[in-house]
Amino acid sequence: AIAIYNDGTAPDRMGPVSGTAGQAWRIPVIGPSYQLGTDLVKAATSGTLTLHVKTSTINEQRTAHNVIADTERGRADNVVVMGAHLDSVTKGPGINDNGSGTATVLTVAEQIARLGDQIKNKVRFAFWGAEEEGLLGSTYYVTHLSAAQRATIALNLNFDMLGSPNGRRGVYDGDDSEGAGTNPPAGSGAIEKVFLNYYGARKLQTSPSTFDGRSDYGPFIDNGIPAGGLDSGAEKLKTAEEAKIYGGEAGKPYDGCYHQACDTYANNNSTILDQLADGAAHAVQVFAKSTLPVNG
Ligand code: PHE
Ligand code: ZN
Ligand code: ZN
Ligand code: ZN
Repeated sequence: AIAIYNDGTAPDRMGPVSGTAGQAWRIPVIGPSYQLGTDLVKAATSGTLTLHVKTSTINEQRTAHNVIADTERGRADNVVVMGAHLDSVTKGPGINDNGSGTATVLTVAEQIARLGDQIKNKVRFAFWGAEEEGLLGSTYYVTHLSAAQRATIALNLNFDMLGSPNGRRGVYDGDDSEGAGTNPPAGSGAIEKVFLNYYGARKLQTSPSTFDGRSDYGPFIDNGIPAGGLDSGAEKLKTAEEAKIYGGEAGKPYDGCYHQACDTYANNNSTILDQLADGAAHAVQVFAKSTLPVNG
């Protein structure tokens, strides 16, 4: 079980921007970090990161970082990457998006030693930077792996928005039965199944979450690495059918404070957060033991 609370530390925010619209900035990428500014769009990442000014102006650039930690145990050639983005949008403190996901990853990281020698595959905990600027941290990570390093990653589990106030239990549609057109690597369907089996056994209904690459799993599936994950919904509207299953209000956004100043500690459905965090922990436990597909 996990809970989100205010421990008195300030939320991380991006600053305001000013500069010239349409201008392209070429910033050399040195080491495991990159510079960025709000309202920038990333165009490419190799050697140089090309950033285009999306809105009006820039007066600030910042360096962002991914924070990554591995279990000591487990095969280094079959790594399970569990990730969540650590940044928020400029406008809000980002408690549901994505304090909920990062709290989940941190909690699993804190607890995983209890599995002891059940950990057969190394688990890598990734706190991605600059997701809101265009998946910059996760893209940097995946595209800067050598082919041999990339081959050591078995799969990616992503957790972005787990406590939406008008939420639902969403499981990434890894087999793309909804036809998002992202052509996901085949193993993504098997990952979806692990989540579906878990919630099926708990008699908790779930809903497919469109596998459209709109979070940090995108760069993984774009580079042939299977992925999966959970989310409780962003700006889309809850359907009447979902309101029957999960309660809440049909016709209203899953998260009415999505990317807004009101995404505060009050913007959290602790029931759904707890259920999705349990599913996340379950999936990590399964894949730490074996990444072979399970049936049933
Ligand atoms: N990645 C989005 C964000 O951080 C959230 C999201 C994920 C929205 C998946 C839709 C689908 O804002
Ligand atoms: Zn967001
Ligand atoms: Zn997010
Ligand atoms: Zn599916």
